Amino acid sequence: MRISVIGCGYLGAVHAAAMAKLGHDVVGVDVDAAKVDDLANARAPFFEPGLPELLAESSASGRLRFTTDMSEIAGSQVHFLCVGTPQKRGEFGADLGYVNSAFDAMLAHISPGDVIAGKSTVPVGTAENLAERLGVAEPGAVLVWNPEFLREGFAVKDTLHPDRLVYGLPDGAPGEHAKALLDEVYATPLSEHIPLVVTDYATAQLVKVAANSFLATKISFINAMAELCEATGADVTSLADAIGHDARIGRRFLNAGLGFGGGCLPKDIRAFMARAGELGVDQALSFLREVDSINMRRRVRMVDLAREVSGGSIVGRRIAVLGAAFKPNSDDVRDSPALSVAAQMQLQGAHVVVTDPQAIGNARKKWPDLSFADTAEEAATGADVVLLATEWDEYREIDPEKLALVVREKRVLDGRNGLDPELWRAAGWTYRALGRR
Ligand code: UDX
Repeated sequence: MRISVIGCGYLGAVHAAAMAKLGHDVVGVDVDAAKVDDLANARAPFFEPGLPELLAESSASGRLRFTTDMSEIAGSQVHFLCVGTPQKRGEFGADLGYVNSAFDAMLAHISPGDVIAGKSTVPVGTAENLAERLGVAEPGAVLVWNPEFLREGFAVKDTLHPDRLVYGLPDGAPGEHAKALLDEVYATPLSEHIPLVVTDYATAQLVKVAANSFLATKISFINAMAELCEATGADVTSLADAIGHDARIGRRFLNAGLGFGGGCLPKDIRAFMARAGELGVDQALSFLREVDSINMRRRVRMVDLAREVSGGSIVGRRIAVLGAAFKPNSDDVRDSPALSVAAQMQLQGAHVVVTDPQAIGNARKKWPDLSFADTAEEAATGADVVLLATEWDEYREIDPEKLALVVREKRVLDGRNGLDPELWRAAGWTYRALGRR
């Protein structure tokens, strides 16, 4: 099938390459010429495990190309809208600027029978609005809402083996036509054994923000328990293990630490609250305000902990921050807890040196005043405090005996509960973590 993918960021680039792997003929469109140039030459414009191989394979098949020219979407039967919906400046709501401009640009090239499949995370009501505009411009085309649940770091796997597919369809024959086309897009092997939820526009849009709100709530729940653990001398990792054994709760997403960041969870819960306010049901989501503040409090607590282990002040202390990305296996630094803590400590007078296996380039662009080092050892040289802020495997596997040789003071703060306290203490380190004795 001929497919177009509009917007080639973390979501669209992976989606386009994955669809080509499934055997479709795919054109990816983006306004960013540098990104298109990278993708057209099978180079991943960001770090995502498996994407370089997928791009190489799909490009070599001749079924994948990229362009900045929107008119090249003409002739595709299904058009996936994958542009970003960042948080508005100074407000909680989502900025729909990219959705609206991409959609308007697409309209001139849509033909009767085409299906536009929205994948971007949008405030509920957006699909209804786009469907109305599509109805005026090209009454024979159909809009569906087909949210995407991929995680950065696992984007290729999540796209090729999703937990579920969700179709938000209009009623009647247009909906049936769109469903048939989407079924063909996701035909086996991709959709084999994958649960399919067929529903209306509003539900499909809500599914995405509800899922992200639930995940954020789960993380903030365990971080709230971490606060209780800190006040009582209890251990949040044992607590998470114990409650996680209850199948109704589950252990995943119960890792206490610096909390959630990135380009999705923080802005999605805020946009959801803003939308609930517009709909007159803000009370229904008032708990998300608390989820957000528990999350932000962890960052403040980490700076306090650094002060505590440094004897009351971090002024002039050298602090090595291991990790800049918002999570491991990503070079994404959007709303990164690691960088926000690093910047706060620097602001309070510490000499902070940040390292990361993949994200230093992006981190430097966003926080040019911070100092950066290429390796953990370099960052930790002469350090008074070492902080694990992003739990990359290579940091979890650091030999505390070896690192002890380069630091000035053997103090480690485990911001992700990713280190073995026994091991570090046995090597003579003062080990402190969020929510642990
Ligand atoms: C998230 C959703 O998981 C995904 O389904 C959606 O499509 C996009 O948003 P992503 O932002 O890639 O994906 O990252 P995710 O793996 O969800 O992690 C988000 C943040 O939560 C990270 O900062 C991570 O470090 C943090 N986290 C995660 C915790 O602090 N504790 C946990 O137990 C899990």
